[in-house]
Amino acid sequence: MRHLMSPLDFTTSELDALFDLACDIEKNPKKYAHVCDGKKLATCFYEPSTRTRLSFEAAMMNLGGNVLGFSEASSSSAAKGESVSDTIRVISCYADICAMRHPKEGAPMVAASKSGIPVINAGDGGHQHPTQTLTDLLTIRNLHGKLNNFTIGLCGDLKFGRTVHSLIRALLRYEGIHFVFISPDELKIPDYIIDELKEKNATYEEVIMLDDVIDKLDILYMTRVQRERFFNEEDYVRLKNFYILTKEKMDKAKETCIVMHPLPRVNEISVEVDDDPRASYFKQAQFGVYVRMALIMTLLELEVKDA
Ligand code: NCD
Repeated sequence: MRHLMSPLDFTTSELDALFDLACDIEKNPKKYAHVCDGKKLATCFYEPSTRTRLSFEAAMMNLGGNVLGFSEASSSSAAKGESVSDTIRVISCYADICAMRHPKEGAPMVAASKSGIPVINAGDGGHQHPTQTLTDLLTIRNLHGKLNNFTIGLCGDLKFGRTVHSLIRALLRYEGIHFVFISPDELKIPDYIIDELKEKNATYEEVIMLDDVIDKLDILYMTRVQRERFFNEEDYVRLKNFYILTKEKMDKAKETCIVMHPLPRVNEISVEVDDDPRASYFKQAQFGVYVRMALIMTLLELEVKDA
């Protein structure tokens, strides 16, 4: 039985197969409409989410399956003190696959070790968010045409942003990627990730001002300041509007630069940028459904039956 805890759980050729499947699903949705007939996905979300939970649920429904679950810890038995290990043992009796989000780093991993069904890490604290990374890689592959040889700017909360941490790890396996980390000093990328970059001989730079680097980026990945992971509100308020991507700033970006954001956005991308053809964050959300459909099929080892 296979789980998904980190994007590195799949080899790059397995990822290619997953993305090919996601692309085929996009082109031929009808072909996949009954692949999961009779199957159930449990979404166990101990932390708020809109996109991830609903895109998992939409993915399972698109495949003909059903969904059950909870969307906050207070409405589950966690509120009575049940451990994640016990919860997953019970869920294993009710569902065929589980997507779990948890504020504690490593909780989905603990669940996977006791689970009778595949567990997907749908975000654990400030640690990893592998299915967002699959979404991001598919978006880059589809819109940029390749997963190598580009300059990517990651901007915003690089300290607490788990989508950034997961994405960097995944991109380190591809050739010729130059990383530009754009953040205020307080929200710099953690040292353990810098160590991984050095180990892989990746090229990177760290800057504070987006204006100084925007013209050289092929991809600009904006992120929200992660309010829920701050220890005090004052720091959050001071940093939350540090970056605001405006039309004016976009004038300096390359014609081919794509702008990504895992969403939800707060203020970091001005809504006027949404009409720019380079703004790709809503397409990214759509790709997230296809890639989750492909993931569910892959983990459940399901294939389309030929008509
Ligand atoms: C991200 C997350 O939960 O880490 N959201 C998402 O899943 N698309 C990003 C965020 O909350 O800022």
